[in-house]
Amino acid sequence: MNEAEILNGKKAIEERYGPWTAHNFSLGKDIFTMKTEVAGDEVKLRRVAQIVSDVSNRPVGDLHILDLACLEGMYSIEFAQQGARVCAIEGRKANIEKARFAAQILSLSNVDFYQDDVRNLSEEKYGSFDVVLCLGILYHLNAPDLFSFLEKVFNVCRSFVVIDTHISLYPEESFQYNGRLYWGKTVLEHPPNTTVEEKQKKLWASLDNPTSVYLTHPSLCCLLTHVGFTSVYECHIPEEPEKPENRVTFLAIKGKNENLATCPQLQKNYAREFKEAFPQDNRKKVPSVRPGWRILGMLLPHRLKDLLKRILFSV
Ligand SMILES: C[S@@+](CC[C@H](N)C(=O)[O-])C[C@H]1O[C@@H](n2cnc3c(N)ncnc32)[C@H](O)[C@@H]1O
Repeated sequence: MNEAEILNGKKAIEERYGPWTAHNFSLGKDIFTMKTEVAGDEVKLRRVAQIVSDVSNRPVGDLHILDLACLEGMYSIEFAQQGARVCAIEGRKANIEKARFAAQILSLSNVDFYQDDVRNLSEEKYGSFDVVLCLGILYHLNAPDLFSFLEKVFNVCRSFVVIDTHISLYPEESFQYNGRLYWGKTVLEHPPNTTVEEKQKKLWASLDNPTSVYLTHPSLCCLLTHVGFTSVYECHIPEEPEKPENRVTFLAIKGKNENLATCPQLQKNYAREFKEAFPQDNRKKVPSVRPGWRILGMLLPHRLKDLLKRILFSV
């Protein structure tokens, strides 16, 4: 395709579905979906691409990858350009048509875009995958969908999942699933009386659920182990300097539970429940000191003071 054809095709897509909103990538011939400089999620793409390359023990080109809620398709197209076979699911036509257009311009026949609700994910419908990308979608689901969705992700995953998500910094509300309690908070996606058309136009939001759930860091870790992942890691490098405090990238590996050769006393199902950071737990417990003791303390040489403190407060 020559430059004019790409530009005309892009213009037609933008007139119909609006401009690209976050996935800024090259369509060839020095034409970008958004801008020639960094303007969207390029730094997040670098992180995700590095994780996949570092963790998969095969060349990326040999992988079968699932991209959930793919938006405008940048992750799918990156991995397809690296030779992987990619299946992408996205709920909104306006997003998926941009992704399809880019794949066509770049002559990629190894990526398929399906317009569907990610809650319909199943092995029967989509097959199984070496790598699952679960980026920016978990926090758009409500309870209990978010829990059953992660079970479905586990079922279709053969090796590992990359999760990029918002978390709740405090345990404000509890949610029950399969007899267990998880903590987080409820977030508004669409105010009451929002019409179906208005919801469709909010290109980054949940499809239909008016609220969604952000889990806390400990609860998300617990949920990942409860659905069956054998180890979970948090990514810090490659860095994302602009990432907010309440956003994390997790790598969850579907391995096999190892038996310890040296410590059979540790039961196979040994698990320590993660501690939630309830606000009152954060207050430092300082033993109160009466004024008389304080004056005596000031007069004592500090070595003797240290010794007394150790005896009295067992520190
Ligand atoms: C914040 S964007 C993130 C997209 C992309 N994965 C990324 O990380 O850049 C959320 C995307 O999820 C899509 N989405 C939300 N709920 C969905 C659902 N139930 N099924 C399919 N797509 C959904 C939205 O249309 C939007 O494209």
